[in-house]
Amino acid sequence: MKKEVRKVVIAGNWKMNMTPSEAAKAVKETAELTAGKNGCDVVLCVPFVDIAVAAEAAKGTNVKIGAQNVHFEAKGAYTGECSASMLLEAGAEYVIIGHSERRQYFGETDETVNKRTKAALAAGLKVILCLGEVLEERQAGITAEIVSMQTKLDLAGISAEDLKNVIIAYEPVWAIGTGLTATPDQAEEVCAIIRNVVCGLYGCEAAEALTIQYGGSMNDGNAAELLSKVNVDGGLIGGASLVPAKFAKIVDAAQA
Ligand code: 13P
Repeated sequence: MKKEVRKVVIAGNWKMNMTPSEAAKAVKETAELTAGKNGCDVVLCVPFVDIAVAAEAAKGTNVKIGAQNVHFEAKGAYTGECSASMLLEAGAEYVIIGHSERRQYFGETDETVNKRTKAALAAGLKVILCLGEVLEERQAGITAEIVSMQTKLDLAGISAEDLKNVIIAYEPVWAIGTGLTATPDQAEEVCAIIRNVVCGLYGCEAAEALTIQYGGSMNDGNAAELLSKVNVDGGLIGGASLVPAKFAKIVDAAQA
């Protein structure tokens, strides 16, 4: 199976940006600018409070809405958290899990990433599972070991059937929000390592069908080259996804 038959997914991660009214406007603009661009799926992952208005604004367009986190319990005394069924009913189709900012600032571990992923998949959400090395790990030459370990731990106990609803986003932490982008060759090398690990876990057919995104300072200037790599099947975009015109150019770059 070649890249051409994998689903290319361009997803925005708005992080903690956009009020509900701003979200509605940005979703509509993004939808207008990406209308008819069917060469990739277009997803915007928005703050919890924006999900319902974003989903309403996205109705009838090719933009799909995602959340940025989900709790693993169905309900209960977990102040500040949202369950998968809440996200679904609000209009989310996707959820980002394991973003490095959650690992870094909110104590997220591979164990909780795995639990959240299982809960999201069981409820019917599609998961964008983020992993990647920090700068010290890259400098120590252990990137392959780190992403391999994360892939194995984060996917532990997830069935081959459920894997069909998982996208892995390779996000080198040193490239996030820093303006430093992995070179296309660096992105390709690590996405291929992740695919190889998935091949070992689920068989190579499942691995070949898996969408693996690159994330980290991807923008309208560097997207085409990154996306031209055979193992890079899309992007998870932070800053540039907040500007519909820029994000739409990245979607354009994915049409090739
Ligand atoms: P930037 O595109 O702002 O570097 O963010 C990347 C990211 O973290 C997407 O999840």
